[in-house]
Amino acid sequence: MLGFGTWQIKGKNAEDAVHEALISGYRHIDTAAIYGNEKEVGRAIRKSGIDRKDIFLATKLWNDDHEDPKSALAESLDRLGMDYVDLYLMHWPVKERIESWKIMQSMKKEGKCVSIGVSNFTITHLRELIDKTKIIPAINQVEFNPFLYQKDLLEFCHSRSIATEAYSPLAHGAVLKDPELAALAGKCRKSPAQMLIRWSLQKGLIALPKSANSQRIKENSEVFDFSISEADMKIMDGFNRNLRTCWDPTEFP
Ligand code: A2P
Repeated sequence: MLGFGTWQIKGKNAEDAVHEALISGYRHIDTAAIYGNEKEVGRAIRKSGIDRKDIFLATKLWNDDHEDPKSALAESLDRLGMDYVDLYLMHWPVKERIESWKIMQSMKKEGKCVSIGVSNFTITHLRELIDKTKIIPAINQVEFNPFLYQKDLLEFCHSRSIATEAYSPLAHGAVLKDPELAALAGKCRKSPAQMLIRWSLQKGLIALPKSANSQRIKENSEVFDFSISEADMKIMDGFNRNLRTCWDPTEFP
């Protein structure tokens, strides 16, 4: 339910951050070929001494690699120094998505990835994928937080048994000083970041907060000792203003 996002953390910082996350109790690490940190992620996992089978590791097929998704995963595994990933995601709904999705299904059968999923898919993209291939993704990973509350997408995924993962659950840090959020956080004696992560968890999402700071990595994991009341959840639902900090997937035809 709580994963560690690694976008924009590179080099030794990435290795240290992932190691810190594992020590703090995270057991789900989310990376991608395009993040340029798979080597460091793999190194941190080995350094932690935690059994590989106790860790949920995800990486992603980058947009330029659709010609040969099998080789792309093999290269990711090589960089990670791993025999398999728990989840392989198509990073964006590029035009080759249907063919690549069928190939990804065959890769799952070969055991190099336990589950396959997609990222940044809208309802339209998901409908098309399922109609044309009959293969339902295990997961759709999208930008999601109260300030970008994609209720219809969440409901659609839920109705098809697709789990939804929230990347940038903190809206990339852009909303942490919001006065209404701060007031609710004060009431719960938690930080604004913890409120946003907890909101995602209570919505049934898998939250993937990112931080390169050891104190904040730990803070973001301390979200299982409180709950947000139904009334406060409703107030947070009302924060929505379609705030996107990443590319808009509706721009992918
Ligand atoms: P830093 O890495 O310096 O901690 P998101 O996961 O939504 O993309 O947000 C990531 C951004 O939020 C990063 O800039 C990160 O900075 C910042 N951040 C992460 N956790 C916290 C926190 N608990 N309090 C304040 N800022 C945070």
